[in-house]
Amino acid sequence: MASDPILQEIITLDEQYYLNCFGTRMPLCVDHGEGVWVFGTDGKRYLDMIGGLAVNVLGHAHPRLVQAITSQAAKVIHCSNYYYNEPQTRLAKRLAALTGMDRVFIGNSGAEANEAAIKLARGYFHKKGQPRVQIVSALMSFHGRTLATATATGQPKYSAPFAPLPAGFVHVPYNDLDALRAAVNDKTGAVMLELIQGESGVRPADPAFVRFAEQLCRETGARLIIDEIQTGMGRTGHFLASQFYGVQPDIITLAKGLAGGVPIGAVLASEDTASGFTPGDHVSTFGGNPLACAAALAVLDEYEASGLVAAAAERGEQLAAALRGLMAQLPEVIGEVRGAGLMIGLELVKPIAVAVKAGMMAKGYLVGSVGASVIRLLPPLILPESLIAAFTKDLEKTIQEVSL
Ligand SMILES: Cc1ncc(COP(=O)(O)O)c(C=O)c1O
Repeated sequence: MASDPILQEIITLDEQYYLNCFGTRMPLCVDHGEGVWVFGTDGKRYLDMIGGLAVNVLGHAHPRLVQAITSQAAKVIHCSNYYYNEPQTRLAKRLAALTGMDRVFIGNSGAEANEAAIKLARGYFHKKGQPRVQIVSALMSFHGRTLATATATGQPKYSAPFAPLPAGFVHVPYNDLDALRAAVNDKTGAVMLELIQGESGVRPADPAFVRFAEQLCRETGARLIIDEIQTGMGRTGHFLASQFYGVQPDIITLAKGLAGGVPIGAVLASEDTASGFTPGDHVSTFGGNPLACAAALAVLDEYEASGLVAAAAERGEQLAAALRGLMAQLPEVIGEVRGAGLMIGLELVKPIAVAVKAGMMAKGYLVGSVGASVIRLLPPLILPESLIAAFTKDLEKTIQEVSL
């Protein structure tokens, strides 16, 4: 750190000027990236195993994405939604085809997509003259940080400091069928779930819980919202985790990797559910802008050209197998390897996740940590197999060093 004067200056300025929002940040000022590599202002190279938190699906400076962004920027970056723009409509068509949904709205972030999903579900019932406002979500979920999505998030630390909170949100323990049955009734507007809870430590839903949620929604008419903001875009080895769970949502939300790093979010809905919005109900100045949509189209082109969803499945299996091998070697330190595709959580038996993250950074790897004992990996979908062995070896060394 001492050898990086830019980092020193940025830390000092950040402490003075930036809102105090981030807690402890790692001592790295990102300068640029190339493929799966990130370079700091210190000139050091890091293997990006966190992918901007599931955003940099094509890695960094991917030629197809750079080309699409630069050529769209040279044409038109933004235009009002008073007018049509080609990338917005073409992206909607493409997402509908990929997901089997009928209607698409493009926004700017994950939280906004979930906010729109909640509005859409409530709007659907209001338009039928039915006051079904309750949104049932899971404890330990994460759905965003706007007031409604922070309230839907089943972790009071994200919402309680900002009370009063919007009404009509109910939480049930994840994977608890009885609690779900007790919570969902003819007042329920929607059940909102992640299929793998990402922010709380890569915790997959039980298939029986997901099937039961779908069944309850069908029985009561409640809308089923699946938040695919982290699990979508091929991350789990399927374009959507819903496809892997065999569930048919009424509303799906996407964001993160959709435009490879350009801010974007999307709400996808069945034709029937889409009637929840009528003109003027939901718009956004930047939502569906040509730049973000052109970037997303380029990402989807690259997925098709390079078979990246299948690559995520294959690479994820290789990485998980290597980590399970490490777990067999170090059973007193690694308790579980979980997740799907390239969304992997490593449960450590000891509270050493932050130390492992720091130790891995010193060795040239960016990994995430959740709480005291989970290491989270969300690498770009272009991760080559050839880097897995060295990563695992260095993880082993780091774990041994920090557990001494
Ligand atoms: C499952 C899930 N939903 C919603 C969000 C919020 O997305 P954003 O940070 O783009 O608002 C996140 C972000 O981590 C997420 O993982």
